[in-house]
Amino acid sequence: MSASVYLVFLGLSVALTQAQNWQNSSVTCCEALEQYGLQHVYYSNDTVYQERTESYWSVSSKLHPRCIVQPESTYNVVQAVNTLAKHPACTKTEFAIRSGGQMAWAYSNNIINGITIDLGLMNSTTFNETTEITSIQPGALWGSVYEKLQPLGYTVVGGRSHTAGIAGYITGGGNSFFSNQYGFATDNVKNFEIVLASGRSEVVNANLLENSDLFLVLKGGVASNYGIITRIDMYSIKSEQLWGGVAVYEKAATSQLIDAHITWVDEVGQYPPGSTVMAFKYSKDWGNITIVNFYQDTSGAVEPPVFRNFLAIPEKNNTFTTGDMNTVSTGIGLPLGYYNIWFVTTVRNDRRIYDKVVELHKRLVDEWMVESEDPDFLAELNIQAIPTTFGKNGLANGGNIMGLERIKENAIMVLFTMAVKTAELETIATEKIKAYGQEIEDFAASLDGLFEWKHLNYAGGFQDPLASYGAANIAKMRAASAKYDPYGLFQTKSSPGFKISKAWCCPN
Ligand SMILES: Cc1cc2nc3c(=O)[nH]c(=O)nc-3n(C[C@H](O)[C@H](O)[C@H](O)COP(=O)(O)OP(=O)(O)OC[C@H]3O[C@@H](n4cnc5c(N)ncnc54)[C@H](O)[C@@H]3O)c2cc1C
Ligand SMILES: *[C@@H]1O[C@H](CO)[C@@H](O)[C@H](O)[C@H]1NC(C)=O
Ligand SMILES: *[C@@H]1O[C@H](CO)[C@@H](O)[C@H](O)[C@H]1NC(C)=O
Ligand SMILES: *[C@@H]1O[C@H](CO)[C@@H](O)[C@H](O)[C@H]1NC(C)=O
Ligand SMILES: *[C@@H]1O[C@H](CO)[C@@H](O)[C@H](O)[C@H]1NC(C)=O
Ligand SMILES: *[C@@H]1O[C@H](CO)[C@@H](O)[C@H](O)[C@H]1NC(C)=O
Ligand SMILES: *[C@@H]1O[C@H](CO)[C@@H](O)[C@H](O)[C@H]1NC(C)=O
Repeated sequence: MSASVYLVFLGLSVALTQAQNWQNSSVTCCEALEQYGLQHVYYSNDTVYQERTESYWSVSSKLHPRCIVQPESTYNVVQAVNTLAKHPACTKTEFAIRSGGQMAWAYSNNIINGITIDLGLMNSTTFNETTEITSIQPGALWGSVYEKLQPLGYTVVGGRSHTAGIAGYITGGGNSFFSNQYGFATDNVKNFEIVLASGRSEVVNANLLENSDLFLVLKGGVASNYGIITRIDMYSIKSEQLWGGVAVYEKAATSQLIDAHITWVDEVGQYPPGSTVMAFKYSKDWGNITIVNFYQDTSGAVEPPVFRNFLAIPEKNNTFTTGDMNTVSTGIGLPLGYYNIWFVTTVRNDRRIYDKVVELHKRLVDEWMVESEDPDFLAELNIQAIPTTFGKNGLANGGNIMGLERIKENAIMVLFTMAVKTAELETIATEKIKAYGQEIEDFAASLDGLFEWKHLNYAGGFQDPLASYGAANIAKMRAASAKYDPYGLFQTKSSPGFKISKAWCCPN
């Protein structure tokens, strides 16, 4: 950001604090946003409002705010934040911040009766050939980033799917095919441009040199705690071809696959290009629990030895191929049209815990088939390696706020989810997932195999991932909130989402 543009923002923020700008208080907060310069304010009778509501991934998030505001620029975001912070018509109005709209639970990225700030129009990506920095606006989806970078021979550490979102994903951690080599997506950020509500210099950069305390908490602490991110500058990596794909197995292969996975988790730290996801999935279409594994080699090596144990197990079919990041991520997604309930935890790479979570997943499916009248549901047990290299890569890149380096052994992340068709079923399924999650954690704890870190991107709304980052990191997040959001706008009026002011307790 050049100095002159920066001064324009300062001037604007001073002007907006003056009372005469708020003469007309007989307007609604949505109207006030229109009056103070926002061109894209949409109500429920507008097609844009309906399209944007439909474009959330999870049906849980398709809520109805009073209006949806779409800023087109950082300047627009400053106008919106000033209006929400200071206009009398907005005193009682809560707001939500939405970028990709891919987070699973209802109030993380949307709101009822309040205002949703939707960054969908801010979706461009630029690559600087001199610095090899990729600058990404928050509202893009990863597919558009990969499409832009791939022809130049580059990629960034980002989502595994074309349809994953950007700003929420990056500031919640961001597990990637490349994390074993480079850390989480958040560890690959050079600079965040963020609009604050501090009453003075609203647009700031946060990086290792400027506002470094803010930079640290944005790396995993979810940005909506502090401000609205308007640009993310990422280090780029040269990338041509990846090898890998999906392999589908019968449930009968469970035991062999667990053995292979346990070995994999302990070996992958020595093989930076390696990445897998192991998932036990039930869907009505299959009428059965099926195991769907992802294998990727980001250096493009075909069937490298590190996958040998997996590749020795006969699969039903596979999609193994060689392709670039843009191509590989195109085919990956998660089904639309469901209310989604997610739960995540991190546990020891221990055979007994694998057996337990596989048993619990089957029990959940069996129970739901009997208890629910709707056979159309999904239930998934998704297991991802968290080798110690992830934490080390984070530290090597300047550190983040997640406290992952506290886990001193190779661990696994367990994601336990359901997807159902109605809001009523969502309520029932949420209670089930909570109870099953508790059982997983109790069992792991009984073996001294429960770790205090939850990946925020995968956490359910009933979980408290920020509290799992450790006392020292909680203190840093609270201090940054007090310093950069002194009036608490993002804690009190931007109520949805994981909030540091609400992360009181430290589970387990
Ligand atoms: C198909 C699919 C694939 C996925 N793949 C992966 C994966 O490979 N790895 C992984 O780690 N996760 C993955 N996820 C999980 C997903 O990354 C997280 O749920 C993520 O938080 C969504 O990011 P988003 O940009 O869409 O944010 P949103 O859902 O729009 O928002 C999420 C949170 O971030 C806040 N926020 C959003 N934008 C801003 C902003 N500009 N400024 C301040 N705060 C903001 C919101 O207020 C909200 O609290 C996937 C999810 C889906 C549906
Ligand atoms: C205040 O705003 C309302 C709604 O936009 C408008 O009808 C009214 O004329 C405005 N009043 C003044 C004094 O500008
Ligand atoms: C839509 O609703 C808004 C606010 O209720 C109203 O001002 C506007 O005139 C309506 N537009 C249409 C096209 O009906
Ligand atoms: C950005 O958003 C606009 C408006 O929705 C859309 O037309 C355009 O294709 C998007 N561009 C990218 C790169 O996603
Ligand atoms: C790339 O970055 C360099 C160094 O910051 C800068 O001088 C240059 O103007 C940038 N190039 C473009 C095209 O923005
Ligand atoms: C479910 O899996 C079992 C074991 O793999 C198999 O025998 C059965 O036919 C499958 N059922 C369906 C409906 O596919
Ligand atoms: C692989 O198996 C799954 C599960 O049976 C099935 O849904 C899918 O269509 C198969 N894919 C191919 C390419 O045969």
